[in-house]
Amino acid sequence: MHIDRSLTDPLLTDRFGRSIRYLRVSVTDRCDLRCSYCMPKGFHGFEEPAHWLRFDEIERLVAAFVRAGVSRVRLTGGEPLLRRNLDQLAGNLKRIPGLSDLSLSTNATQLVRHARALRAAGVDRLNISLDTLDRGCYEKLAGRDAFDASLAGIMAAKQEGFAPIKLNMVAMKGINEAEIERMTEFAMQHGFILRLIEAMPMGDTGRNAQYLDLAPVRDKLVARFGLVPEADELGGGPARYWKTADGHGRVGFITPISQHFCATCNRVRLAVDGTLYLCLGQEEKFEFRPMLRDGCSDADLDAAIARAIELKPERHEFREAPAKLIRFMSQTGG
Ligand SMILES: C[S@@+](CC[C@H](N)C(=O)[O-])C[C@H]1O[C@@H](n2cnc3c(N)ncnc32)[C@H](O)[C@@H]1O
Ligand code: SF4
Repeated sequence: MHIDRSLTDPLLTDRFGRSIRYLRVSVTDRCDLRCSYCMPKGFHGFEEPAHWLRFDEIERLVAAFVRAGVSRVRLTGGEPLLRRNLDQLAGNLKRIPGLSDLSLSTNATQLVRHARALRAAGVDRLNISLDTLDRGCYEKLAGRDAFDASLAGIMAAKQEGFAPIKLNMVAMKGINEAEIERMTEFAMQHGFILRLIEAMPMGDTGRNAQYLDLAPVRDKLVARFGLVPEADELGGGPARYWKTADGHGRVGFITPISQHFCATCNRVRLAVDGTLYLCLGQEEKFEFRPMLRDGCSDADLDAAIARAIELKPERHEFREAPAKLIRFMSQTGG
């Protein structure tokens, strides 16, 4: 359904009436892991460094998005901690007036070294990937035995006072599904919020044999931990949260396949080369790097952002056309 935008929010609003308030910024498409669902072993399609947006370019573009109404920014990748001096970028972004929430997604393998500086730079929240508490399963899934490093990173983040820390677990049939209860207990014990995510079919195979429907999983956790639905949105994203009766334990469910949330999608994604992707599951995009490097004015940037948002499609088609998307998650910025 098309919406007459003169009747809605004057700020960044797309053709379907959705206000765009959230920008994900990928600072690298490289990673020290090879999670099977994200970046398969042997993957070589990396962007050349000359095409990476420089920090000053990222800062200028983010400031333009904030002028247009974006208030939340998440740094991601690839593995963002592989980009040198990330804390400097975080500190500069945090100083942009109007940016109220700066967060970071990481696999935590290098977080022990970076947690303090990121906290000092003003990163508000962390989402950390952890799919399993079983070392063997971790190695199989991530392609490397980095379990101890990742766990140490998670604990270092807790120590530095990041809160909340959300643990993202891509729940996969026959792979880590048996560990969901243990992961829930672990998260509750440490005050982390576990988020269970349905694997999306991204990449050239287009198959999604690992897909696990989270509805029955949720029913089981509700019964086991006495969960009740959380009324408040936590973080303005697609997760639906459930909490324990005392409110201390929380579990989120992100169900792009079984119950998509496109009607309320408030985000767009900037890849490391300056390409803005308007939807995780579609090809619509807008390239900002050429204009940034051609000396465009701030007014040009503002106009380009408005044009780019016009391209945002209504929804993804992961379910109807699982083979459609040939781009890996690590290339878009998850
Ligand atoms: C692409 S990663 C980038 C940040 C960082 N390297 C990390 O792992 O958190 C961001 C998130 O995307 C998720 N992800 C990657 N590929 C996915 C897929 N095919 N389906 C669902 N989630 C996926 C990861 O589990 C992770 O939580
Ligand atoms: S999910 Fe994160 S850690 Fe895993 S391969 Fe993708 S970018 Fe790397």
